Amino acid sequence: MKTLWIIANWKSHKTIAEALQWIDELAPVLQTKEQVHVVVCPDFTALEEVKKSIQVSNLPLWVGSQDLSPFPEGPHTGEESAQMIKGLVELAVLGHSERRRELGETDAMIKEKVDQAKKVGIVPLVCVQDSKTPIPEGVDLVAYEPIFAIGTGAPDTPENAQNVAATIKKTHQVAVLYGGSVDSANVLSFLNQDDIQGVLIGGASLDAKEFSKILKKVYEKA
Ligand code: PGA
Repeated sequence: MKTLWIIANWKSHKTIAEALQWIDELAPVLQTKEQVHVVVCPDFTALEEVKKSIQVSNLPLWVGSQDLSPFPEGPHTGEESAQMIKGLVELAVLGHSERRRELGETDAMIKEKVDQAKKVGIVPLVCVQDSKTPIPEGVDLVAYEPIFAIGTGAPDTPENAQNVAATIKKTHQVAVLYGGSVDSANVLSFLNQDDIQGVLIGGASLDAKEFSKILKKVYEKA
């Protein structure tokens, strides 16, 4: 049985109070299963409180950031260095297409971010838009997220996502996740593909009930 990654990407949503409410609602649904890694990626402001509430209840839930600085700790105003957040997160989503488009993030910057994450033991998850997007050395986890499918309700077909995942794996030793309009109705169609090892979920992860539905399906399959 392959390890499955189920990752909630909240983007710029949820106050600290809303984040904690979501954790409370999800807690009874979470199961400890070696082959299922569930990760929640809140906004930077909620990382600490989310981490604390997970620790207090000893929940089988990882915390991820949605980005981190390409620079080490130092004179970099406004940047969140890997060093600063290493006690709060296990994973960092890097190179999301929204950041590439809206903030001009480049492949070179993403490589620096990967290096910073790895230096402190944070797992970098790099988002790629197709099989040609460069994947920096040392990356073990990649999310294939076609731009047309993000937030549109029009996901890629599981067959095409499988083809892209297989193409990426021909040249890189990575686990490939799929992201783009994943919800409780379609999640298994992606996870049933041989080369897809998880999902990165935006919109459908915001509602604890919908995310719980997704998790229940995944646990049944695992
Ligand atoms: P979506 O976003 O699930 O809302 O399409 C996925 C993502 O951008 O990570």
